Amino acid sequence: MTWMLTGGAGYIGAHIVRAFDAAGLPVVVLDDLSTGFRENVPADVPFVQASVDDSESVRAALREHGVTGVLHLAAKKSVAESVEKPLLYWDENVGGMRSLLQSCVDEGVDRVLFSSSAAVFGNPPVDFVTEETPVAPMSPYGETKLIGEWMLRDLAAATGLRWAALRYFNVAGTGAPELADRSVTNLVPMTFRALTAGDNPQLFGDDYDTRDGSCIRDYIHVVDLAEAHAAAAARLDEAPIGEVFNVGRGEGVTVTEVFATVREVTGIDFTVDVVGRRAGDPAAYFADATKIGKELGWTARLDLADMVRSAWDAWQQRD
Ligand code: WQD
Repeated sequence: MTWMLTGGAGYIGAHIVRAFDAAGLPVVVLDDLSTGFRENVPADVPFVQASVDDSESVRAALREHGVTGVLHLAAKKSVAESVEKPLLYWDENVGGMRSLLQSCVDEGVDRVLFSSSAAVFGNPPVDFVTEETPVAPMSPYGETKLIGEWMLRDLAAATGLRWAALRYFNVAGTGAPELADRSVTNLVPMTFRALTAGDNPQLFGDDYDTRDGSCIRDYIHVVDLAEAHAAAAARLDEAPIGEVFNVGRGEGVTVTEVFATVREVTGIDFTVDVVGRRAGDPAAYFADATKIGKELGWTARLDLADMVRSAWDAWQQRD
C-alpha cells in the first residue's frame, strides 16, 4: 500500500507526507522542485525529482517503489496568475494530470486521490456549500481543478479506477515553522507582511451583505487538511469509491474576525485600511463538511487561533 505524492515537497504536500507517516502509510515523493523544497521531504522518504509529465521517470518510480496509489498535488495554484496565463494552467494542471493518469493506467495503479479546490464553485449561489452545490468556476485555475475531477470520473467509468477529490477551502497555518507556506498570496501572510513593514493591513471591502460587511470564508488548518488526505487514502485502500469531498471546518469567519484573531495572537494593535472590493471575490461561502465526517470519519480539530498562532511563529522565524 505505497502512495506516490506528486508535489510532496510543497507546503501542503510536506504536511501530508508527515500525516501519512503518522497513519502508517508508506510514501514516495515525486516533485520537480519548481516551487517545492527538497528539505521539506524527510531524509528517510524516497524522493524522485521529476515532473508529472515526464512519463519515463514517473513510470519507473511507480514500478521501483511498488506504488499502489497516487496522490496528485503537483499543480499551479494562483487564481490571479491563471487569469493572466491561462495556457500555462491548462498545460501544467490539465496536461500534467492527463500524462500522470496515463502513467497510472500503464503501470496498473488503480487509486488516485486528487487535490481539488473550492474554486470549482466560483461564486456559489448559497453560503453553505455542499458537494451537490452546482459548480461554476470563475477562473482558469478553478476550471483546471474541475477538469481534473472529470478526468478521474471518466477514467473510473472506463477502467474501474478508485478515486477521490478533496475540495480545499481556505488553507492556513503550519505544523512546523520550517514547513510554513513561503508565498505571500493569502490573507494571513499578507496581514503579517503589512504588520512587519509597519503598514496597515488592507481590508478588501467592508460593504458586503454579511454580519460585519467583510467577506466570509472557511479557514482550515493545513495539519487538519493533511489528516483528511490520510483518511481518504486509507479509504481508497479499503473500498472502490469515486467521490468528491469538501474539506473545511464548516464554519464561516469574516475577514474582520481574522484581523481580530491576529491582534490577539500577535499582541499588535493595528487599524486596517479599507480599500475597494477585490474583483471576483464572492461575499460568503463555507463548507458543509458533513459528508467527509460521515464517510471518512474526519473532522477538523484545530481552530483559527491555532492557524494564526502557528503561522505567526513561523513568520517570525523566517530567513
Ligand atoms: C481571503 C479573504 C479577501 C487579503 C483563494 C482562492 C481559492 C483557494 C484559497 C486555492 C477574501 C480578503 C485578503 C488582504 C483582504 N485557493 N483579503 N485583505 O480569495 O478566499 O481564496 O485562496 O485553491 O481558490 O481563490 O483567499 O486569502 O486571498 O482571501 O481583505 O490583504 O480575505 O477579499 O475575502 P480567497 P484570500
